[in-house]
Amino acid sequence: MPNPSKNTASRKAASKNTQLPFDKYDFYNQAVQSPEADVKFYRQVYKDVNKSKRPRVLREDFCAGAAISCEWVKLDPSHKSIGIDLDQVPMDYGKEHYLSKLNSEQQKRIALIQQNVLSGQLPAADIVAAVNFSYFFFKKREVLKQYFQNVYKSMNKDGLFILDIFGGTQCTDAIEDRTKHKEFTYYWDQKHFDPVTNEAYFEIHFRYKNKKYEGVFSYDWRMWTIPEIRELMAEVGFKDSYVYWEGTSRKGLGNGKFDRVTKGEACLSWIAYIVGVK
Ligand SMILES: C[S@@+](CC[C@H](N)C(=O)[O-])C[C@H]1O[C@@H](n2cnc3c(N)ncnc32)[C@H](O)[C@@H]1O
Repeated sequence: MPNPSKNTASRKAASKNTQLPFDKYDFYNQAVQSPEADVKFYRQVYKDVNKSKRPRVLREDFCAGAAISCEWVKLDPSHKSIGIDLDQVPMDYGKEHYLSKLNSEQQKRIALIQQNVLSGQLPAADIVAAVNFSYFFFKKREVLKQYFQNVYKSMNKDGLFILDIFGGTQCTDAIEDRTKHKEFTYYWDQKHFDPVTNEAYFEIHFRYKNKKYEGVFSYDWRMWTIPEIRELMAEVGFKDSYVYWEGTSRKGLGNGKFDRVTKGEACLSWIAYIVGVK
């Protein structure tokens, strides 16, 4: 399994000096997020697809602490971002720990909204990013389609919908993958995979100061496939979709560089981006 959050160089956040107490959102951020690299990639893909046009508004669906939204406003003074999440708790954490580190001008260019991405009108955007596989929560095709329709309606002309996805034979095994960080150890635990439904259950654990914190985050997901996602995008109106596949390092691991492809490669584990074009 790719340890979807973290098998690439670009996804490796620099270790921070983490002090007590145990802070699950901080550890999550360090272990699985790489918002600085993510926003540069989104800008690059927009340029790749739309040539001279520049994106301004990023919407981060399933934003949790909105780390990506914060990086987007830092990238350019014309940028605005909107983070959407059902749960106010991680958004409040993000306000306290990430937004508070921005200057006041940057803070004015971010809005965090508590909303279900399945319902109501979503704010307009040039790029909608739904990453770390959060749409895998939607197990039924009609529910995922409802989400894609909602996204499509909300997007500006030439807008991009950027999703990440992972797969490979290893992600159907029940295995636990461990990554040591400076202050803690991160575990990606693949508990269960059902080939009949393609549903899978994962947990994140952390070891910190000789104590293992089990099941700190859990994910009851459906493992969607690239063709399923592209077909759904086409059904709701996206005029094109592209796949950006990760390159391979000399050691045979993902190298954190994603290029547009028309064919992938059979491997034990892989991560890719799917980009829907309005
Ligand atoms: C795995 S976290 C996402 C973290 C973040 N996107 C990242 O890059 O790491 C999933 C988030 O999705 C939110 N969420 C789940 N269902 C949602 C829905 N229907 N609408 C909006 N947010 C939802 C949860 O509250 C949670 O904060």
